[in-house]
Amino acid sequence: MHLHLSIAIIAFLAASLASTRDVDVAIIGAGLSGLAAAKDIAKAGKTFLILEARSRVGGRVLNAHLANGEVQELGAEFVGPTQDRVLALADELGLTTYPTYTTGKAILYRNGTVTPYDADLATGGLPPVSSEAQEELASLMTELDALASELDVNAPWEHGNALLWDSMTLKSFFESRIGLQDSRLLFDTAIRSILSTETEEPSLLYMLSYIAAAGNQTTPGTITRLIGSKGAAQDSRVDGGTQLLAEKLAERLGRGNILLNSPVREVKLQDGRYSVRSDQVKVTARHVIIAMSPPMAGRISYDPLLPAARDQLTQRMPMGSIGKAIAIYPRPWWRELGFNGQVQSDTGVIRATYDNTPASEGFGSIMGFIEADEMRALDGVSEAEIKRHVTRDLINFFGPQAANVSQILLQRWDLEEFSRGGPVAYCPPGLLSKYGPSLRNPAARIHFAGTETAPYWTGYMDGAIRSGERVAAEVVADF
Ligand SMILES: Cc1cc2nc3c(=O)[nH]c(=O)nc-3n(C[C@H](O)[C@H](O)[C@H](O)COP(=O)(O)OP(=O)(O)OC[C@H]3O[C@@H](n4cnc5c(N)ncnc54)[C@H](O)[C@@H]3O)c2cc1C
Ligand SMILES: *[C@@H]1O[C@H](CO)[C@@H](O)[C@H](O)[C@H]1NC(C)=O
Ligand SMILES: *[C@@H]1O[C@H](CO)[C@@H](O)[C@H](O)[C@H]1NC(C)=O
Ligand SMILES: *[C@@H]1O[C@H](CO)[C@@H](O)[C@H](O)[C@H]1NC(C)=O
Repeated sequence: MHLHLSIAIIAFLAASLASTRDVDVAIIGAGLSGLAAAKDIAKAGKTFLILEARSRVGGRVLNAHLANGEVQELGAEFVGPTQDRVLALADELGLTTYPTYTTGKAILYRNGTVTPYDADLATGGLPPVSSEAQEELASLMTELDALASELDVNAPWEHGNALLWDSMTLKSFFESRIGLQDSRLLFDTAIRSILSTETEEPSLLYMLSYIAAAGNQTTPGTITRLIGSKGAAQDSRVDGGTQLLAEKLAERLGRGNILLNSPVREVKLQDGRYSVRSDQVKVTARHVIIAMSPPMAGRISYDPLLPAARDQLTQRMPMGSIGKAIAIYPRPWWRELGFNGQVQSDTGVIRATYDNTPASEGFGSIMGFIEADEMRALDGVSEAEIKRHVTRDLINFFGPQAANVSQILLQRWDLEEFSRGGPVAYCPPGLLSKYGPSLRNPAARIHFAGTETAPYWTGYMDGAIRSGERVAAEVVADF
């Protein structure tokens, strides 16, 4: 009994001794932003430790491993031109990309009717609604691009109309521009697939800044680049799944420098150094990088308190509501029917779909986003029930063969303790204009990364990587 107890005490003491680490930089979060930051900090010869809450790296990037040895992405998936930093990282890590499947016709599912159409947005292929509706939609998109081009991506809040544009929702703006039901439906669908919010949720200023961010230093952002496949944000996929970006980067950084299962609860300044306390360890560091969305960052305790504006920002910036359902079939049979797997629908649990078949074409799959109000409506609904809805939707879109599904993968990001939604935390009215600078302004030696802080490709893997690189440069310059 006594012996037992003392062994326990010795084990405990050993654990607590082993569990205090001193580094130059403590990085909280092993998503792409935290990992990208670590890469550059290591390169600058500084020591670091990443504390990650989950039992894996990648955050909003996650591969599902199927019984047949293949993978499907449950989080971020697509990459495209102007997403220079994620493409460079993939290349550096020896990963290759392949084009998203777009051969054949897309489907508009409207009023219970399937209408196939040629969907190449790059060549102006809008969904088959009346020409008046197409014109309304096209002119709204042109206007949004023009307004977005006036913004400084580094400080959209400094535009002369920032307060005005931030005082209205995207919905109140577009209702003053378009009147036809069909153009509204298509615009709603587009915004839901970009932000996973309804149009009444983000502010106009935020949407404009999101459009402006959909490009790079030499190529201005456009809404078409957000929505489109070929030549746009959904252009390509990473062979083997996007989580390989995180996994391979983690290998390079050294697994010993990444502590998993280590949710950080407190960041406390003590005797000129930060003491970072997780459920497992205490780390002391000269600098701290918070590499996660603002709402997740707001769940950590800070001593001394963060500036009021930073905390108010994290109080006001919610995650979108998103889930993914992926239906697995023995073969991509819809391709033989002339469909490219892309659907826009006015009903159902999944209203935007993609052909998710991997490069090997070893099986077929259709991925459907569960977005905004649809995701919220499924709170408390069982997975089995959701899967039945998904199958019904796919039968509506593609016909009876869709019933022959072998498996449905379901991932609800709003139920994930360390994401609580996705794809991104967005700005409702009155946030970006009043608190924008607090997205990135460091608080003493606490620095903020995460895709939400990126001037280019905010909300995307590319933005996450850019934010990590920016924050690492900030920290290294301060030594
Ligand atoms: C369904 C879905 C689809 C998407 N599709 C695409 C796409 O096609 N293309 C694209 O480019 N992007 C897409 N995205 C967005 C993309 O996933 C994100 O922009 C990007 O991965 C964010 O990286 P991050 O490092 O900023 O944040 P995260 O990935 O959220 O990383 C933050 C990390 O911090 C950890 N953490 C949180 N709290 C704590 C704590 N207290 N202590 C320690 N660790 C903590 C989290 O576990 C997480 O690992 C999608 C996202 C979702 C959810
Ligand atoms: C921006 O993207 C374009 C198109 O992909 C590319 O040609 C250009 O080199 C990129 N610019 C920068 C600064 O990386
Ligand atoms: C869909 O149905 C509604 C109500 O019946 C009708 O007003 C509308 O014109 C229909 N739209 C299309 C595209 O058929
Ligand atoms: C489903 O698959 C089985 C076995 O391959 C096949 O016999 C059947 O015709 C398929 N059903 C439909 C509706 O395609």
